[in-house]
Amino acid sequence: MPSPLRIAVLASGRGSNLAALLAARGRGELDAQFVLVASDKATAGALRLAEAAGIPTLVLDPKAYPDRRAFDLALFAQLAASGAELIVLAGFMRILDGEALAPWVGRMLNIHPSLLPKYRGLHTHRRALEAGDLVHGASVHFVTAELDGGPVVAQATLPIEPGEDEQRLAQRLLPLEHRLLPATVALIAAGRLGWRDGLPMFDGAPLGEPLQLGPHGLALA
Ligand code: GRF
Repeated sequence: MPSPLRIAVLASGRGSNLAALLAARGRGELDAQFVLVASDKATAGALRLAEAAGIPTLVLDPKAYPDRRAFDLALFAQLAASGAELIVLAGFMRILDGEALAPWVGRMLNIHPSLLPKYRGLHTHRRALEAGDLVHGASVHFVTAELDGGPVVAQATLPIEPGEDEQRLAQRLLPLEHRLLPATVALIAAGRLGWRDGLPMFDGAPLGEPLQLGPHGLALA
């Protein structure tokens, strides 16, 4: 019997994506053991969710470190010590130092609320609306040194409704994020999605286009 994938989650905020991961595990859709939830914010809702679920938590205060790299090296040392095999960034609102994260390339995922490569960084919903886009969405990508720039492995799309505002668009996208992230992580846990020689692999072949979330889960485009 293969053992469950050991996952650490990094989150700075409310933690609804963490909740979705925990729920997927609860339903038997994700063969994972959550070994750590870490945050740069002591007040993060994600930490409270983790505590309630009996998952070890960690808070590192960036102000206690001389610079970004020192903080990130301390963080990754703790993540390694947790035994994590995969790190999931679920609303972790910090830029990571490229050198510090290098050992984790191919073993770290991020969820981003846009159809990457569109709208890296912040205010993605507003920017999609201002651009007059007809379609918005969310992406899960492997994390590399380039901010929101690593290979995208899965996406969910959402038609933009005429006249809707930023808040409503964000609100409508969130439930899709909550399906997209667990489904992507489940593929990694099942050994179907991974990383080889700098490339994402799906079912033994390099993944060209991101997997698309449909009514029955993730599938090739
Ligand atoms: C999500 O929109 C995610 O895509 C982005 O940050 C937000 C986190 O929300 N990276 P939550 O803390 O998971 O509720």
